[in-house]
Amino acid sequence: MRGWLRRKSFDALERTDPAHRLKQTLSWPHLIALGVGAIVGTGIYTLIGVGAGLAGPGVLLSFAIAGAVCVCAALCYAEMATMIPAAGSAYTYSYTVLGETLAWIVGWSLILEYTVVCAAVAVGWAGHAVEFAHAFHWPIPESLLSGPGTPGGLINLPAILITFAVAGFLIAGTRESATLNIVLVVIKLAALAAFVALALPAFNKAHFTPFMPNGFSGVAGDGTKIGVMAAASIIFFAFYGFDAVSTAAEETKNPGRDLTIGILGSMVLCILIYMAVAAAAIGASAPASFAKSPAPLVFVLDQLHQNAAAKLVAAAAVIALPTVILAFMYGQSRIFFVMARDGLLPRSLAKVNAKTGTPVVMTLVTASVAAALAGVFPLGLIAALANAGTLCAFVATIACVVVLRLREPGRKRVFRVPVWPLVAAVGIPGCLYLFTTLPNLTIGLFFAWNAVGLVVYAVFSRRSAVLAGG
Ligand code: ALA
Repeated sequence: MRGWLRRKSFDALERTDPAHRLKQTLSWPHLIALGVGAIVGTGIYTLIGVGAGLAGPGVLLSFAIAGAVCVCAALCYAEMATMIPAAGSAYTYSYTVLGETLAWIVGWSLILEYTVVCAAVAVGWAGHAVEFAHAFHWPIPESLLSGPGTPGGLINLPAILITFAVAGFLIAGTRESATLNIVLVVIKLAALAAFVALALPAFNKAHFTPFMPNGFSGVAGDGTKIGVMAAASIIFFAFYGFDAVSTAAEETKNPGRDLTIGILGSMVLCILIYMAVAAAAIGASAPASFAKSPAPLVFVLDQLHQNAAAKLVAAAAVIALPTVILAFMYGQSRIFFVMARDGLLPRSLAKVNAKTGTPVVMTLVTASVAAALAGVFPLGLIAALANAGTLCAFVATIACVVVLRLREPGRKRVFRVPVWPLVAAVGIPGCLYLFTTLPNLTIGLFFAWNAVGLVVYAVFSRRSAVLAGG
């Protein structure tokens, strides 16, 4: 295959030297922990407020819709990951199935997504860290605790600091250990369980009417998209991270069984937990009251005079959220590394430090961009941009399953998506619809980013690609 549509061959992927294959040590409980660890983060701890502001109590429906779309994508990730257990996830699947140009767009979008997720989680973290600064009366000027979008804010210093702190850990060679991950997952879930247990007794069903004050999909007077779908396109942020599970495909003992249970189990568990947290929050406090808080769950508990519990939930977020940044910052360097190995990006940028085994330059570039975004922009805008990149990768992965089922029905599949035409028929239009309900500014920025990307591709990457003999 030549030109813009050239593809990587399956054979090349299968020729991985056995000496370089990873040990098969993981089983489905590890994968569920891995998935929940990467998924539960700023989405549920903070964006639930942004979602409630857009949809009111209807944010419950937003969680269900975003979750359903993610389940479709997750199934397709499981099929592709077990067929192509190589680094690079959606980018590598696209390169093998859809061709180089589309793979480039997916990879370029993933670079955006991973960097911007780091920024978004850093802002979410800062919102909780500031609760501490206030609780202990630390004399930090308010102007340094949030970006210029917030009244009285100038720069979000805590978000910048946490981004560089995580980059420092990564550069020093820290990889999240499985044991630490389980401890942090338990902390995150325990805090959410405690929240539900304390908020439920204050449940007031009057908070649920009107259920959709902004309708299903509408536009406010100032042109902003509002309603259940606008909230779903932001809340979508809360659900991804499960591709961390698919990247562990090579290390699972029984990929067919473990990946299915791991990916679907972590998704279903998160959908249930999120709906319980959202219902408890709305039952205890009218959505309009916690919508603007940078730490909505803490805000609700404070309102219920559960001050000690509020501090514990804030502490859980402060301790556990940086691991989400760690996972995505690591993922970013891995995508960059694979694209550079394929010759699509300059190899010098992906160079790994001989001592620590980490790509220092890339990590610092990612951290600097993420910190710059986190220091200045509000969470809703940053999260929406990350969602645009992710939706692009999801559509590509579902499309890969469809194309491959049609083109090579006989190829061996360790895991098969059940009723794949239905999954594709829900997943692809679902992702595209969520994309159209993102803020207009986000859609514009996403296309601008990809326009720059396509110029880079046409001028540099197309010729330097390994497949072009570059
Ligand atoms: N799902 C991850 C979070 O909510 C990205 O932080």
